[in-house]
Amino acid sequence: MFSRGREYTESLPWVEKYRPSSLEEIEGQGWIVASLQSFAKKRKIPHMIFSGPAGTGKTSCAVAFVKDILGQNFSSELILELNASDNVRMNTVRNEIKSFSITQNISLPPDTLKFVILDEADNIPKDPQHALRRIIERSPPNVRFLLMCNYENRLIDPLLSRCALFRFSPLPKEIVLNKLRDIAIKEDLNLPQNTFEVLYLISMGDLRKAINFLQIFSQLDTNDTSGLYEIAGYLNPKNFSEFADEVLKSNFQKSVNVLQRDFHFSGRNFLYQLLDWILTSQSIPIENISNILEGIGVIDFRLTLGSDMALQLESLVALLCENVREKNLNE
Ligand SMILES: Nc1ncnc2c1ncn2[C@@H]1O[C@H](COP(=O)(O)OP(=O)(O)OP(=O)(O)O)[C@@H](O)[C@H]1O
Ligand SMILES: [Mg+2]
Repeated sequence: MFSRGREYTESLPWVEKYRPSSLEEIEGQGWIVASLQSFAKKRKIPHMIFSGPAGTGKTSCAVAFVKDILGQNFSSELILELNASDNVRMNTVRNEIKSFSITQNISLPPDTLKFVILDEADNIPKDPQHALRRIIERSPPNVRFLLMCNYENRLIDPLLSRCALFRFSPLPKEIVLNKLRDIAIKEDLNLPQNTFEVLYLISMGDLRKAINFLQIFSQLDTNDTSGLYEIAGYLNPKNFSEFADEVLKSNFQKSVNVLQRDFHFSGRNFLYQLLDWILTSQSIPIENISNILEGIGVIDFRLTLGSDMALQLESLVALLCENVREKNLNE
């Protein structure tokens, strides 16, 4: 995560190669960046939690902040970086984190700042979270904890109340498009015109996803951006519009046939495409939209529980055909 030589950088995936290396390079999180810059300047730094959707800059901000603060003094001895997905359990909290926070390097001034960076902290089970809270309370005054998570409601209240909470927002479209254009220029890519728009649509504000798909697409020998939908697990737009036409004719069997022909997409992504269509289509009776949205919510819930995707989507198609029928009958 912290930088090395030029050759090493060239071989990195683009999400790492273009990770901001200082707070100034963080885009779209205006007041958060301004607060962090002010903490760095005044050297008054609270323990912090960065929370928010994936790919919006939480880890990048934490890393850039620590780099900005430590500057010339930067050394791996002063940073303990752990990812809770790699098993941050009671032993890690009691042994690794505790011993890092209480150990003082006698060759450094005692007020030298040290950082514990805990990524994906919402994956830490509740008991180790309680142990962590005690360690934070008892840590020496030169140790700061930076926790990152997607869902702050999975962190226990005593942790939340001991840290300054920064909520990251999904990145606006213009920022995602600019970042992608910038990478395309630096990598000397020659891409079809609508590539960045499609990348934005399929990544929904997650810049990591957008950059990863850009890198994959740039390595394919094609100019057809509709392939991007398939790579990202969406229904191809051509097939989606065929599906929508059949639904509008209340033709259950033909609608299902279109889905079955192209059954590589993710159920959840299909629900997002459907939602977008329902909310923008003029052809669906307005009084039935709430029924349909409720149906989409139920199917989404069942899919997250692991229900059979084909069965669930077929029941949703039945609901859709039912809810456009009134309009067809009235015409
Ligand atoms: N606000 C941003 N400004 C500039 N680049 C960004 C920003 N957000 C994300 N990126 C780009 O996306 C990549 C991933 O960002 P990062 O790891 O900081 O996301 P995250 O919020 O920590 O996501 P997750 O919740 O999945 O851990 C970075 O390497 C960087 O290239
Ligand atoms: Mg992260």
